[in-house]
Order: sequence, then C-alpha cells, then structure tokens
Amino acid sequence: MGLTVETRTQVGIIGAGPAGLVLAHLLRQRGIDCVVLERQSRSYVEARIRAGVLEHGTVDLLTSLGLADRLHRERMVHHGIELLFERSAHRIPLTELAGHEISIYGQHEVVKDLIAAWDGPLHFSVSSVALSSLDSAPVVSYVDSSGVPQVLRCDVIAGCDGFHGVSRASIPPSVLRVYQRDYPHAWLGILAQAPPSSEELIYAHSSRGFALHSMRSPTVTRMYLQVRPDEDLSLWPDERIWSELRARLDRSESTWSLADGPILERSVAAMRSFVVSPMRYGRLFLAGDAAHIVPPTGAKGLNLAVADVKVLADALSSFYATGDSAGLDAYSSTCLQRVWRVQHFSWWMTSMLHPTGDDPFDLALQLAQLRYVTSSRAAATSLAENYVGFPFP
Ligand code: APR
Ligand code: PHB
Repeated sequence: MGLTVETRTQVGIIGAGPAGLVLAHLLRQRGIDCVVLERQSRSYVEARIRAGVLEHGTVDLLTSLGLADRLHRERMVHHGIELLFERSAHRIPLTELAGHEISIYGQHEVVKDLIAAWDGPLHFSVSSVALSSLDSAPVVSYVDSSGVPQVLRCDVIAGCDGFHGVSRASIPPSVLRVYQRDYPHAWLGILAQAPPSSEELIYAHSSRGFALHSMRSPTVTRMYLQVRPDEDLSLWPDERIWSELRARLDRSESTWSLADGPILERSVAAMRSFVVSPMRYGRLFLAGDAAHIVPPTGAKGLNLAVADVKVLADALSSFYATGDSAGLDAYSSTCLQRVWRVQHFSWWMTSMLHPTGDDPFDLALQLAQLRYVTSSRAAATSLAENYVGFPFP
C-alpha cells in the first residue's frame, strides 16, 4: 500500500500561469503561506507563447513586488496604436488621451520572471489533481512528479488553472451561470525573426480580413491573421502567411513595407468570450482564465487575471489579519464588475475589426465605427482608456 503524504498550507493554488504565480507572490508579500501545483513541466509553462501587452496597472503591481527588473530593462513602451482601414492609417494616441502607456513584453517572459523569483513550494508535473470538501476544510489530492500520492489541506483553494482546469469543473454545474459567445473566426499567430515594420501595434481591418502587427523585441515580430475557426495550419506555408499579411497591412502611403524572416512559432487559436458567475464556491475562488476568457483583440487576458488575484490577495490579507470576510464575500461581485467591462471592450474591438465577409450591414457598421473612433476625440478617448486599462480595484 503506497504511503500518502499529507501537508498543510493556508492557500492551495492550482495552476502556475500568470494568475497563480502573481497570487503566490502577492500572498508571500502579505505573509500568507501557499503551495502552487502545476500539471505541466517548468519548461513547458515557460515556453508557452501567449500575448504580450501589459497594462500600466500590471507593470506597477509587478514593480511593487520587486519582480519587474528585467521587464523594465527589456519592455518596449508604447504611447499609441494604429488602426488601419480602407488602406488608411489612423493613430490612437493612448498616453495623450488616457494618461498611460502600454508595455510590450511577452507573457511567457512574465511567467519566467515570476518562477525565477519564487522560492516557495511550487510543484510542477503533478497529476490527478482533485478538489474536495470545498465548503468546509478544502483538500487537494494529487500525485507528485515522483508518483507519490499527496494530500494538501488548505484554508482556501485558488483555482488558477485556466479554461481547461479542474477547479471550475469541481463546482456543481447547477451553481454556476455560464455566459459564452463563440466567434466565427480564429487567429493564426506567428512569431518571426524579423525586425518590426512599425514602431507601434497595427490593428488592420481589410476586405481580406483582420491582421495585427505586434512585436516582442527590435528583432522579433509577433503577427496575427483572422482565419476560419477550423483553419488547417498546414494550408499556410510561410509564403502564404507573409503574402496575406502584406495584403491586409497594405496602405495607400506606399512608403510602408513589411519585413519578413524565419517563422519561429505558429499556431491557430479559437476566439471566445466566456464568463462564469459566481467566481466562488465555498472556499474555492476562481481567478483568471478559470473564470473568464476574452478574445485577444483587446490584449486583456493576463491583465484581467492579475486584477482578479489582486482582489483575492487583499481579501485574504484582511481575513487573516482581522477575521473580516467581507472582502472574500464580495470577491466575485468585485471581480465581475471589471470582467464585464473588459468583456465588453474585447467584444467591441473584435466586432469592429473582424469582417465576417457575408453581411454588408455588418461591414457598414464596422466602417462607421472605425471612422467615428478615428475622427472623434471622445470616441478615441473611450478606446484609449479601455485599452490602457483602468486602475485595479
Ligand atoms: N492541475 C494543475 N495545473 C493545471 C491544471 C490542473 N488540473 N489544469 C491546468 N493547469 C495549469 C495549466 O497548465 C496552466 O499552466 O494552470 C495554468 C493556467 O494558466 P493560464 O492558462 O495561463 O491561465 P491564467 O494564469 O489565468 O492566465 C490568464 O494569461 O497566459 C495569459 O493570455 C493568457 O488569458 C491568459 C492569461
Ligand atoms: C501580442 O503582441 O501578442 C498581442 C498584442 C495585442 C493584442 C493581442 C496580442 O490585442
């Protein structure tokens, strides 16, 4: 009979993505013990290429935790974005309109920094994670990377295990309200060893579909193409990808050209909007992608996850310091205020920029919205304040 090892902590954190890792550091800063359990290996988690826009609130929080030294050295600070439509480019001056810049820094770089700075219990490659007794004395059972069965007893569990995790699945479906919208498109993303062809991000609406020109460094470009949800990546050789990007990023000013180079990574990602309510069940608190998914058009995924765990860390800090559970009791409603604002913005950006190809009314609405947001200071300011992000709760 194999021996089961029992341990105890205050907060059991499921998932070592941005939500779980930022929460661990926030709890450590507040003197609260936690254990992080991650089913993938460290190398897998650190290599997972995701988006790369950090709101000023996220940068400030990482700085306050002493985790932003490399970020401040290597990030690219941007003060605007470009909207391209009808082959005409229009700049949205983010800092001028909303008072804050954005930072371009790969989210996997954030994860690397968070892991490197963590010296607490963080177990990679765990398996068979199961949650129980969520309404009283929560228990996480799992098998560690050596195959030893483990039982972790906690005061609270933070479900930071993403959209496909075990935490949300541990809540009785009858308790949850699920809000979901699937879009008729996906993003084909590439990482290329090529110098960016623009100093700022370009969101392009074209008759051939949406394209996004982003970047990771002065020598690495990150770009995306709107494709069908069931797109077959094998039908997209390098030449086709570059040709389609050039076509969609084309503009009447003929001076602009797109630099290409070796493609280092490519993938197709579906787009959905998803929210569960409440984000709490007993002593289980969902945070980040475990509770909500936004289409990437607004570059909000990581930033929203960080906002969730800031609320949770503050609520736990108050609970452990004074016994006051008001913050924990309000956790879900507090987070969902911001979640729905971000959901709306991400849906709005996605709807405005992605032609569906078969409805002239939709196209006319998109062009009307694009013309308005690039000609009205009020409309551009609304986009800017949502894009740079609102102050954390
Ligand atoms: N047990 C342990 N870990 C798990 C389990 C499980 N059963 N299921 C999933 N995980 C891990 C995943 O391997 C992943 O590392 O949980 C982590 C969840 O991380 P993310 O999916 O990145 O979600 P989150 O931390 O909420 O990040 C939110 O950040 O990465 C960006 O844009 C991305 O929107 C995303 C945002
Ligand atoms: C990225 O750089 O990966 C990126 C930028 C902006 C977005 C989405 C992704 O809206």
